[in-house]
Amino acid sequence: DNLKGKVAFITGAASGIGLGIAKACGRAGMKVVIADIRQKAIDEVLPFFKEKGWPVLGVQLDVTDREAYAKAADEVERIFGNIHVLINNAGVEAPMGPVWNNTFKDCDFIFGVSFMGVLNGIITIVPRILKHGEGGHVVSTASQSGLYVVPGAALYCAIKAGILGLMETLASDLRGTNVGASAFCPGPVVGNLSATSKEVRPDILQNDGPAAPPLQRKTEAPSGEAPDFSKLLMSAEEAGERVVRGIKRGDLYILTHTEFKESMQQKTDAILRAYPDQPMNPDFRKAFSFLTYN
Ligand code: NAI
Repeated sequence: DNLKGKVAFITGAASGIGLGIAKACGRAGMKVVIADIRQKAIDEVLPFFKEKGWPVLGVQLDVTDREAYAKAADEVERIFGNIHVLINNAGVEAPMGPVWNNTFKDCDFIFGVSFMGVLNGIITIVPRILKHGEGGHVVSTASQSGLYVVPGAALYCAIKAGILGLMETLASDLRGTNVGASAFCPGPVVGNLSATSKEVRPDILQNDGPAAPPLQRKTEAPSGEAPDFSKLLMSAEEAGERVVRGIKRGDLYILTHTEFKESMQQKTDAILRAYPDQPMNPDFRKAFSFLTYN
């Protein structure tokens, strides 16, 4: 599908993966909207796009603010015209668990931005895309941790798994329209989540006491030299290119690291083994025939 001249609205686009996606959209000839809560960060990244001669618009937006979201969409439509591609990428990091040590303020902060922010984007923008009829696509940044467990990151994993379910269902609900949907599930990518999460956490959701101690993990004694973690990270630009390719192909799942395939296989096998070993009721199949896989 040709993305040239189409409008991409990208949240959390002033840093990391969002910025990588914005650059890839610019390279694909799209008009790019950098939506982010941090105005200063927006101001810092806009010159890159302007120097390239790519159409760009910076919009200061807190994705948890529904009224502001609708106003931002109105502004974009006024300046750039119809929005075609929505990238729900803004997210924050949760303090590491175990989950029973997370505070309700931790829960409200991360669910507010990383989950409700995605829903706010979908409910605000998707009707507009369907209305103009020119076609479009929605991508939400989930994570590899939406597919598989990261010990001590229960809130994060729950949200990312939730985004995955949301996008799978959205893709199914959009079938028959000219709008597609993808769940982006990156592995480790260069980004600034720890720093930006501290910066954007509002006062009313600050914890009263000190942060709970992180989960003590049993780690195997490394044999040989420990690998340099920073060398295992994918660049945000490469991650962005994967997203644009996924949009063009209409992929439901956009993944980055083949190294997680084995864990995924183990999880899928464990789920399949858990189904009761009993004969199937044919009526059940008929009654639930709408439950087809995408
Ligand atoms: P980042 O910190 O570099 O970028 C996140 C951006 O979101 C920041 O510019 C921040 O200002 C913005 N933001 C935060 N709260 C916001 C709000 N309420 N409204 C609007 N913008 C807001 O982080 P990174 O690493 O690029 O992460 C982006 C997304 O990718 C997140 O959803 C994260 O969970 C996900 N992810 C990141 C991975 C990684 O290895 N970097 C791996 C898997 C998923």
